[in-house]
Amino acid sequence: MSRLRILLPISFALALLVPLRTSWAAPATVPDTLEQRLLACSLCHGDKGEGLKKNEYHPRLAGKPTQYLYNQLANFRDKRRDYPVMNYMMAFLSDTYLIEIADHYAKLAPPFPAPSTRASPAELALGEKLVKEGDAGRKLPSCMSCHGKALTGLEPAIPGLLGLYPPYISAQLGAWKDNRRHAMQPDCMHDVAQILTPADIGAITAWLVAQPVPANPVPAPLGSLKLPLECGGLTKK
Ligand code: HEC
Ligand code: HEC
Repeated sequence: MSRLRILLPISFALALLVPLRTSWAAPATVPDTLEQRLLACSLCHGDKGEGLKKNEYHPRLAGKPTQYLYNQLANFRDKRRDYPVMNYMMAFLSDTYLIEIADHYAKLAPPFPAPSTRASPAELALGEKLVKEGDAGRKLPSCMSCHGKALTGLEPAIPGLLGLYPPYISAQLGAWKDNRRHAMQPDCMHDVAQILTPADIGAITAWLVAQPVPANPVPAPLGSLKLPLECGGLTKK
């Protein structure tokens, strides 16, 4: 990405995000509401946090659990995740403000993209097996054991895995594998991703994006699953 393409959205986003009491504030006719400030985020995450079809790397935020979204905003702020625009924007924001932003997106429910299949039956079968059963021989727990049987996530902080775009899913798994994305300790996704091969990541991504999202994709209730590994960030803020 060119420097200008990174810097423009950052300066626009920062101007909106910071409460309007500074000298470079927008005219007084613009109401200083959270929605108004989060217009900056719509550039890359869509008006309702639905993600960007025209750039599938820009993820959906809508409907993910509040605590998960808060954890990510804090992960960018505290450099456990690395994406310059997100790191800059979060750098000076307080926990209280991050929770407010997270809560806003958690409540939105724009439609999901339609399922897509571009993979061979063999690849889909491997993806399905790993998601549903894992691979005991390699000590790989199933994705469902933490992300829920319906893959709609688990309260308070495990996100659903359906209705995301393929480049985002595979890039995130790759980032954990290569130590570029970190979660709060203990980082269970790090351990999961170390076991996955690039072929596994391709197969899992292909199978996940071929699944329809259930009509009411709410995360499974807190405490309804016994996780196979310990994960950080799961206590409610
Ligand atoms: C210039 C584009 C851009 C802007 C503006 C932007 N984001 Fe992002 N955001 C991204 C990209 C790309 C990612 C994925 C980065 C990665 O992990 O590599 C991301 C990731 C995130 C995530 C993590 C999503 C997840 O499921 O883990 C959250 C939450 C988020 N952004 C919130 C915001 C908020 C709130 C704003 C406005 C204050 C904002 N973003 C503005 C591009 C942007
Ligand atoms: C031991 C529990 C556990 C298992 C097993 C697990 N996950 Fe996760 N996963 C998590 C947690 C916790 C997070 C949130 C991490 C964070 O806060 O960044 C997460 C986040 C993710 C994300 C990020 C989603 C986003 O919107 O950015 C992806 C993708 C993901 N997991 C895929 C998988 C896949 C694929 C598998 C199966 C191969 C799997 N996970 C197995 C606990 C688990």
